Amino acid sequence: MSIRNARHPFYDFCDEALAGIREQGRYRTFTPLAREASRYPVYEEELPNTDIGREVVVWSSNDYLGMGVEPEVCEAAISAIREHGAGAGGTRNIAGTSPLHKALETELAALHGKEAGLLFVSGYVSNQASLQTILTSMPGWICFSDRLNHASMIAGIKGARGSTTVIYEHNDLADLEAKLVAAPVDAPKLIAFESVYSMDGDISDIAGTCALARKYNALTYIDEVHAVGLYGEHGGGVTERDGVAAQVDIIEGTLAKGFGVHGGYITASAQIVDYLRSTASGFIFTTSLPPSVVAAALASVKMVRAQNWRREKMFERVETFRAKMRSAGVPFTMTPSHIVPVPVGDAERCKVISQRLLNEYGVYATPINYPTVPHGTERLRLTPGPYHTDEMMDDMVAALKILLTEVPLAATGTTQALTEAA
Ligand SMILES: Cc1ncc(COP(=O)(O)O)c(C=O)c1O
Repeated sequence: MSIRNARHPFYDFCDEALAGIREQGRYRTFTPLAREASRYPVYEEELPNTDIGREVVVWSSNDYLGMGVEPEVCEAAISAIREHGAGAGGTRNIAGTSPLHKALETELAALHGKEAGLLFVSGYVSNQASLQTILTSMPGWICFSDRLNHASMIAGIKGARGSTTVIYEHNDLADLEAKLVAAPVDAPKLIAFESVYSMDGDISDIAGTCALARKYNALTYIDEVHAVGLYGEHGGGVTERDGVAAQVDIIEGTLAKGFGVHGGYITASAQIVDYLRSTASGFIFTTSLPPSVVAAALASVKMVRAQNWRREKMFERVETFRAKMRSAGVPFTMTPSHIVPVPVGDAERCKVISQRLLNEYGVYATPINYPTVPHGTERLRLTPGPYHTDEMMDDMVAALKILLTEVPLAATGTTQALTEAA
């Protein structure tokens, strides 16, 4: 038996790569913040080397409606743990399917007006597993993918060996059509896109995309991760709001953002769901979601379907926040969604402003840097929700006004993002 004495080159590789990442100002640091369920969006930050915590108001949560702290949702999780235990105990096939799983899939199918639904352990996995499985099913698939699609969709598309990927310009239907025209008529085609693009906050033309899909006989796959729970009369997403859910073949969503819990899903026709249930590796070979998570998600989806007030309140809060930013002269990018990006323009500035917001003003806004967004368009991404008060908004606007003036753009940064302001 030989014993390896030499240092494996991967260790040096990691050191060098990390040094490069640090140099570019995109080394990832996490800010541990403990959410206070009864005071959302207030969190507690533990101060280093002390037992003392301090209050922080979070402005970047994706629990857009605060469903993750709803007492009914939390109680559903707690009683499911008491009744069924902490974990699922197996894959869906191996004793990991409870009546709760079936009920949630039925509820999600109804939410989107589809025949069937299928749960995955996360939204990421639902995209990766579904797209990869579909695009390796028949020979010759061509996937038309929006340039700004999420990493999880890209992982599924790239992982589909044997298929061809054609990237079309973001939300550009003329470019999509030009690319569809150029493709062989008989090839099986799929158009993969999102409804709300979470970093820019723009919304795709779903009806227009579906019209092209019909014209060129393409299947449509939409990621509604940042829209489910928030748009449409019952929270069915932009497809519901625009009355086009029936035109989209596969609607994918998460239970972790607008529904505030955890997990991912797709809804589609019975045979597509049955096929993915029977063949998608990322569905089959992993322990299913714990009953507590499924029970909480089911309670959340039911509440969100039935009650409009949180959606309405969230949009009112977003508008109020924008009005306050506007009147204080703080730049932000106007979007047709609930997302409020504040352009910052370079990674270091973004990090410094985010850190100073936290240290000096007790507010948290995540810095969004490359590779999540292109260089020069670094930003803070704010998501006002139903529980952000006017006072919290005034504090945030005042802090941003000071820091955006005080912290200069580095010489390497561009000013392009700053000119996007509303
Ligand atoms: C567009 C999009 N799709 C999918 C996901 C993955 O969803 P989840 O967080 O449930 O894994 C995300 C996560 O942020 C996302 O932004």
